[in-house]
Amino acid sequence: MYGEKTDFDKIDLTKEPPEAEPERQYYFIRLLQEWAKEKKEELGRPLYANITTFGCQMNARDSEKILGIMQMIGYEETDSEEADFLLYNTCTVRENANLKVYGRLGQLKKQKEKNPDMVIALCGCMMQEKEVVEKIEKSYRNVDLIFGTHNIFKLAELLSIKLLDQRAKRKMLVDIWEGTTEIVEDLPNERKYFFKGGVNIMFGCNNFCSYCIVPYVRGRERSREPEDIIAEIECMVQDGVVEVMLLGQNVNSYGKNLKQPITFAQLLRRVEQIEGLERIRFMTSHPKDLSDELIEVMGNSKKICHHMHLPLQSGSSRLLEVMNRHYTKEDYLLLVEKLRKAVPDIALTTDIIVGFPGETKEDFEETLDMVRKAEYDSAFTFLYSKRTGTPAAAMEDQIPEEVAKERFDRLLKEVQKISAQKAQERTKTVHTVLAEEVNQQDSSLLTGRSSQNYLVHFPGSKEQIGTFVKVRLEECKGFYYLGQVEE
Ligand code: SAH
Ligand code: SF4
Ligand code: F3S
Repeated sequence: MYGEKTDFDKIDLTKEPPEAEPERQYYFIRLLQEWAKEKKEELGRPLYANITTFGCQMNARDSEKILGIMQMIGYEETDSEEADFLLYNTCTVRENANLKVYGRLGQLKKQKEKNPDMVIALCGCMMQEKEVVEKIEKSYRNVDLIFGTHNIFKLAELLSIKLLDQRAKRKMLVDIWEGTTEIVEDLPNERKYFFKGGVNIMFGCNNFCSYCIVPYVRGRERSREPEDIIAEIECMVQDGVVEVMLLGQNVNSYGKNLKQPITFAQLLRRVEQIEGLERIRFMTSHPKDLSDELIEVMGNSKKICHHMHLPLQSGSSRLLEVMNRHYTKEDYLLLVEKLRKAVPDIALTTDIIVGFPGETKEDFEETLDMVRKAEYDSAFTFLYSKRTGTPAAAMEDQIPEEVAKERFDRLLKEVQKISAQKAQERTKTVHTVLAEEVNQQDSSLLTGRSSQNYLVHFPGSKEQIGTFVKVRLEECKGFYYLGQVEE
């Protein structure tokens, strides 16, 4: 196995590339390293890579992996779009996510004229849609490389075709895989923060909620082996990480498809044992698979954060059925009750969709009612967006935009009212906050998060980043708190 530090120089470029992964990718990385060295000498400057990430934590994590590969090749990260390699890692969960990407692509023309050798690449969920790729092939000819959610690990190989093969240089290279069950371990692994990081525990989704495109663009659910997950976290902890976020579209069904099935709760028990790790978060929990075992593990844990993101989607049991969510309003409320009993100060957040096809006034009132009953700390509210190919897109009674918009505004007000009440209750309480970065507006402040995932700004200096600080919440400023350090 080639690690980041071991055996890498032994790769023999005079031989054919190996078939097995990840060795094959390390071969291409090595090949591109040679190319990059020469290119930098020729240009008399570094090579720059710019990556923009749209969408969720999955994409954020994928972008870190991509940056890891680029840096290993010899590129430096830059914030500027005037780069030698420019990548949009796209999201397609709602229509406006797509529109943003088209808008940005249109603006890249000038950059490409200035630097014709620049490689413009696209990846992520949007690229798994045939119509999108066809549109780009037709209307956005300055794009050089398109790959999908299943073959990110192949980036070095694709880039080497693009950069080293003269004939490929002028053509758009498109490499999209349909679903795959393959999980490639041990690739280069860059992380944005030295003290916290996301860890994929599974990929894909099997739930097919009737509005959602994710299962079509991310493929079937597949879990990583617990040993691989534990080894990765142990490695992170050795490098100074104190907080991990376990990532999956539905972490509560982790492990079901493994040869030796294990539950998410069992995995958490094992992660908890890792010495030096202080905090565990996870995302996202589907209510239908939230087990009593998991609630019990959360109640007994010293490391699992007191926060649960539990997407509700709708407060109407009738609509939940049409959404294919497999729980009722009552089931959901029972979970909330159990969670609060096990972890009394738990913060609860959620996702809600407004304007789903067939949503009646009464359905919507039930959603409002649930928001009041569940007393969310905060909620992400979304206007329903029609996604081609999903069952909901073909449903007849689509809701007119004005009606949906009006409901959306009412919901948002209700959510904000309840968040403000919650925030009021919390002021003057003391929390352990992980200091994450220097505040961008005021450099005398640090920004961090409590176990409940509250965002807190408090006086401090950059040496404290990555450490835990006791902070009293003094005042709620909307989506964040101002705090004072407790001695
Ligand atoms: N796997 C996660 C979230 C995936 S997408 C889960 O099941 O909770 C994040 C959120 O986007 C969803 O929870 C949902 O509220 C929202 N969403 C998904 N598809 C949507 C659509 N077609 N229109 C509007 N919102 C949508
Ligand atoms: Fe989409 Fe549902 Fe899967 Fe979440 S659980 S990704 S909402 S299909
Ligand atoms: Fe978007 Fe793909 Fe995540 S569609 S929300 S980036 S899984």
